[in-house]
Amino acid sequence: MCGIVGYLGSEKASDIILSGLTKLEYRGYDSCGIFFHDTDNDRFITYKDKGRVHHLVDDFDYQYNNHLAIGHTRWATHGKPNQANSHPHFSLSQRFGIVHNGVIDNYLELTTKYLADVPFSSETDTEVIVNLIDYFSKTLAVEEAIRKTLSLLEGSYALLIIDIVNPDILYAAKNKSPLLVGVGSKGIIIASDVMALVGYADHYLPLEDKSVVTVSKTENQYHFELKDIIGKPLPTTMLEMNIVMEDIGKAGYSHYMLKEICEQPSVIRKIMAMYLENGSSLPDKIIQHFQEANRIYIVAAGTSMHAGFVGKYLLENIAQIPVEVFIASEFAYNPPLVEKNPYFVFISQSGETADLRSSLVWVKSHHYQSLTITNVPTSTLAREADDFLEIYAGPEIAVASTKAYVAQVAILLLIAYQLASRKPFDIHVELSRVAVAMDAIIDRRDYIQHLVRDKLVKHNCFYIGRGLDYFTCLEAALKLKEISYIQTEGFAAGELKHGTITLIEEGTPVIAVISQKTMNHATRGNIREVQTRGAEVIVISMSDIHDVTDQIVLMDVHEYLAPLITVIPTQLIAFYTALILERDIDKPRNLAKSVTVE
Ligand code: F6R
Repeated sequence: MCGIVGYLGSEKASDIILSGLTKLEYRGYDSCGIFFHDTDNDRFITYKDKGRVHHLVDDFDYQYNNHLAIGHTRWATHGKPNQANSHPHFSLSQRFGIVHNGVIDNYLELTTKYLADVPFSSETDTEVIVNLIDYFSKTLAVEEAIRKTLSLLEGSYALLIIDIVNPDILYAAKNKSPLLVGVGSKGIIIASDVMALVGYADHYLPLEDKSVVTVSKTENQYHFELKDIIGKPLPTTMLEMNIVMEDIGKAGYSHYMLKEICEQPSVIRKIMAMYLENGSSLPDKIIQHFQEANRIYIVAAGTSMHAGFVGKYLLENIAQIPVEVFIASEFAYNPPLVEKNPYFVFISQSGETADLRSSLVWVKSHHYQSLTITNVPTSTLAREADDFLEIYAGPEIAVASTKAYVAQVAILLLIAYQLASRKPFDIHVELSRVAVAMDAIIDRRDYIQHLVRDKLVKHNCFYIGRGLDYFTCLEAALKLKEISYIQTEGFAAGELKHGTITLIEEGTPVIAVISQKTMNHATRGNIREVQTRGAEVIVISMSDIHDVTDQIVLMDVHEYLAPLITVIPTQLIAFYTALILERDIDKPRNLAKSVTVE
């Protein structure tokens, strides 16, 4: 969702902001803007409108020297996407310019109380913040006016603020929405996502809630001060930047999604190296929390929730631990009756999903133990849960999650395996086979592209499977619908005949996933049911149970690990279908990579 970037330093600030906004595009947005100080003429300039960052980049006048700038990509919450609602926003006097991520819940009350006379030019809650700062700056120093404003705000915010009176200062503040300060040799860059810091910062600091940053310049040196909301200085322990430009490029692939699909064998190998090799293992503390729990509660959304379903199956079947899985947005408002000694597991690629954050707040308020499994170690959920496990998928830029999903499943498998009193297989051998089996199907992706062209591009589609394959079907259906916009449902194969089979007609694509021996016969029965009604069937099966007519046959791996393999052809099916339909694959409409509003 919305992204923000700000810079004060010796380099051309607008270049850094435009490059940062481009790197943040993957998060999803509908408008963008930039506000900067034209050094030569000592004036401030704004570009903002509905539309893509590349329009901003194309229209931008690159002649200006500038060293202070802020930029924004907006995903509309208050007010539709248009120029007036795009950020930055300004106070009535034009003294302050601001960009904002998040949602202010009490903006109407604040308007009535303090800003009744201010004519607003947008429908956003952000304009209230910037006018409050202006209002309080009439009697307070700017930093105090900002802190006073923050003390009144209820909701979430990551803010960058410019006071045009002083173009050598940049202010920032955050609560609930992520914000990071990056320090490089030529200046300070502040952004809502570590991606925007890549290439400009050697070290960075993820900010805690209710902190305020003042970046300033003294004798050509740029530095920042960090304080809490009452003005008390906070420690600034910096982390080393461990992402380089190559990690966030396309490496010759046409799309990030294809690159990320093809990276999955390496992700499995990386996870093995981090958690299985040279005596490394999952932390004892986390294993102990699982062992002491009477029940595990997994909380997640979308693709991460599908990984949670697979995790439930693995933990219950391999480790004999009871597990429940919750949709995060439901959990936050309708928490379950919790067993004694629960352990809450939050699964999130981004570590920033607002629905999970609300659930975690509830869990913490009840003093229950929690674990976050995520790809982003500095994320809010990673920092706020008691325990944290990194999935080591590497930056995932395409909005549709692929490699993070398999990494989440692999981590859940490792947990189940380590907890098992009797090991059902050799994890090293089986995970190595998984990486090879993934390579094998990825190498045959041209074949899948042809299959898709011949059979699949229709207006709706079904995935069917049983047991673990059912969870793969849920994930496969989500992937196909989110990037191709084809209506797709994942069904438990036996459930279709209880109503939904009425939708099967001549040529309706039905993709069956069969990896579990005990369910092979039954699922093939369901295939015949839909074939009889005219469905165009594609079968994805494992070599040891395949039928000669199956279209996609995968290398055998242990049944418990099959979800790591069966999902790969479904990702490729989604990708090639969307390619044929000329969809915006890496940035599907209406979607955001990191869903930071509830
Ligand atoms: C789909 C997808 C989403 C996310 C969901 C949760 O491809 O990526 O369904 O899984 O928005 O996001 P995270 O995992 O970041 O909490």
